[in-house]
Parts: sequence; C-alpha cells; structure tokens
Amino acid sequence: MDAISVIRTKRDGGRLTDAQIDWVVAAYTRGEVADEQMSALAMAVLLNGMDRAEIARWTAAMIASGERMDFSALPRPTADKHSTGGVGDKITLPLTPLLAACGAAVPQLSGRGLGHTGGTLDKLESIPGWRSEVTRAEMAAFLRDPGCVICAATEDLAPADRKLYRLRDVTGTVESIPLIASSIMSKKIAEGTGALVLDVKVGTGAFMKEFADARELAATMVSLGEDHGVRTSALITGMSTPLGRTAGNALEVREAVEVLAGGGPADVVELTLALAREALDLAGLTAADPAKALADGSAMDRWRRLVTAHGGDPDAPLPAARERHVLTAEATGVVTRVDAYAVGVAAWRLGAGRTRKEDPVQPGAGVELHARPGDRITAGSPLLTLHTDTPERFGYALQALDGGVTIAPDPAGFTPEPLILDRVG
Ligand code: URA
Repeated sequence: MDAISVIRTKRDGGRLTDAQIDWVVAAYTRGEVADEQMSALAMAVLLNGMDRAEIARWTAAMIASGERMDFSALPRPTADKHSTGGVGDKITLPLTPLLAACGAAVPQLSGRGLGHTGGTLDKLESIPGWRSEVTRAEMAAFLRDPGCVICAATEDLAPADRKLYRLRDVTGTVESIPLIASSIMSKKIAEGTGALVLDVKVGTGAFMKEFADARELAATMVSLGEDHGVRTSALITGMSTPLGRTAGNALEVREAVEVLAGGGPADVVELTLALAREALDLAGLTAADPAKALADGSAMDRWRRLVTAHGGDPDAPLPAARERHVLTAEATGVVTRVDAYAVGVAAWRLGAGRTRKEDPVQPGAGVELHARPGDRITAGSPLLTLHTDTPERFGYALQALDGGVTIAPDPAGFTPEPLILDRVG
C-alpha cells in the first residue's frame, strides 16, 4: 500500500477500499504518511466526498487509532451530548449536571474554542480553581459521584483525529461532511458513552449555513453512532441568532447558573430541556423529569458538586472584565435580527476567544445582549454591552457588529425563527 495510490483513487472520484482506509489512517497516525500527503487526501475527500460505507470505515479506523473507554461497569447508564458549535452555546454547562440529577452518568469530553465559537473548557476555566485536566482514575470517580465529569480528551483518544483535525484547520479542509462526521463521532464513540444526543447547528454562526447540509451531517452522524452501538439522535437547531443573552466565558457561566437556579433565558432553557429529554430517552431513563430537576434544585446541587470535584469554588465571584462599552439602539421598533456570526466575532475580538491554540483567553470578555429578535426597543436604550480588559479592542469589536443588528420600526407579522428546526433519529 502506498499513499500516492490512495490519493489518486480519491482524486479521480473513486471509492476507497476498507484496506486502503485502514492503512492510510494507521500509517498517518504512526507518521509514515506525511502531512502533505494527508492534506492532499483530505482535499480530495472534500471535493469528491465519501459514501456511507467509506465514512463508517474511516470512523472505525480513527477509533482504532487509540483507546476506546468502557464505562459499562458503572451502575448508571451513560449519556452525553455534542454540539457542532455556535455562539453563546453554553448548553453543556446546565445539561451535564441536569442529566446526572436525572440518573445518567455523563462522561463529557470537551474542547477549547478556536475562532468565533467558544469552547466549553474555556468557559469552565473562568470559575476560580476549576481544573479541566483530570486523570483516568478521577474521571471514573467523578462518574460515580457527582455522576458527571467535563474534561479535556486525553491524547490516546482517537489520536488520528487529533492529528488530522489540526491539519484540516490549516489546509481549508474542515468543511467536509464526511470529515466532520467521522471526526466528531470517532471521539464520541471512543469516549464510551452508551447514548448520545447531537445538537447540529445551522445558520450564520454555525459551520453549516444551509439546512440541507445540517440534515445530511446529522443523518450521517446518527447512523455512525448506531453502527457502533451508541444510541444516537440529533436535533437540528437554529444558529443565526446567539443562544441566550451572553457570548463570552464567565458571562456564559453566569447565565448557565441562572438556568440551574430555575431562571435564565427562555431559549437556553428550551434547548437544555429538549436535549435532556432526548438523551434521557436514549439512555432508557424515560421516567426522569428534567424540568422538575431544574425547578427543585437537584440539578443545581449536582452542578455545585461537579464544580467542587474539579477543584473549583461554586460560591466564588466570577471574573468580570475591567472595561465596558454600551451600544445603544439607533431606532425605535422591534429587533428582527441579531447576527450570531457578528456577535461571535465581536466576543472573540474582545478577548473571549483565541486565534492560535496556545493564546490565552480573557475570562471576563464578551458580549451581553439586552434585546433579542422579537423584543421591542426604544432609540437610545442599551442594545449590547461589550466587556473586555483591553479597551483598545472596542473599535475592532464594533466593526464586527456593524450591520449585525436590525431594528424594524413596524415589522408586521414578524415572528422569530423557531429554535428547534428538526429531529433525526
Ligand atoms: N468538530 C470536530 O471535532 N471535528 C470537526 O471536523 C469539526 C468540528
């Protein structure tokens, strides 16, 4: 087997055999296939696609490049969620302890943010003392009590994907449904969860801009999960408007805690409960009532135990940015659009995100929304508050927001787009 013949097969629109896939993924992981060869193959896949059988084999090869965790000895069924990423998407924070409060064990392996979407670990690390790197033994202990863990994936979990994802990031080959589906699902299957709900985002602030692409990605991932014995379903949800009223690390933690306290923005609560219902049903916990667990404080109790287990202080004040800038409404009317991409880029430029993997993030930086689509607003009243430690960034963030919000004086019949657009599974 040689890399050039594998690349040529895909370049010419052919299908890769099982043996070609197994070899190229394993040889790339070992360093025997060079980065430039894998980049050429990734570009050929992006341009010519892979069929379902090729994607399934590619995913299996990436899982086989490392360890697959096994939590079948736990007394509770395992359940997890994965989101394809969006602006203000803090759902993992309330959802993880909520699922634990409802009887599931949640092995949530998360990442750090890159670009305009935030990463769950960056959000959690804004909690004083929080530690994302935990040992295997700690992970197993946390899954018993408090019943959940949110940590960084270890090096031995789908190492082929770790290497390939870095390469795709710098070679313009991220936006390929077969490569995204196999990348996400290889990690989630290797993580050892028995049930998985996917939140596939579509809209300006998401990877997928078109509904048909989001649906195809969702269907591909659901069938990959099912093929590997993971009960999987997906919700397709709108991401043209940020989720909730905050984008930025500590700002989002604050909002997540509001949800766990029984309040919080209606869209965050709606999506948290919808994803919880899916995950609990897949895990066989059909009698559990997630709305009750939010209302009676049992999810909040799990959250506090989760934060404490990770070394954090659930009562410590969250970091706040040193400087604020309030953007006011230019007109009176109804807000019809708050563009998720514009808000995501502004939060990133204020210091909430990073450009390179090794960059630090500002825990207090971000954007707060005072109005969402459907809200009435008066000229001169606060529309957005920008938060940063480095005020020289305000101008640059404001540029990103230019044209990002629409206020219509009299939008007859305007209703905001529903959040949950479809279900696959
Ligand atoms: N997230 C992943 O883990 N992989 C992708 O390819 C895209 C998003």
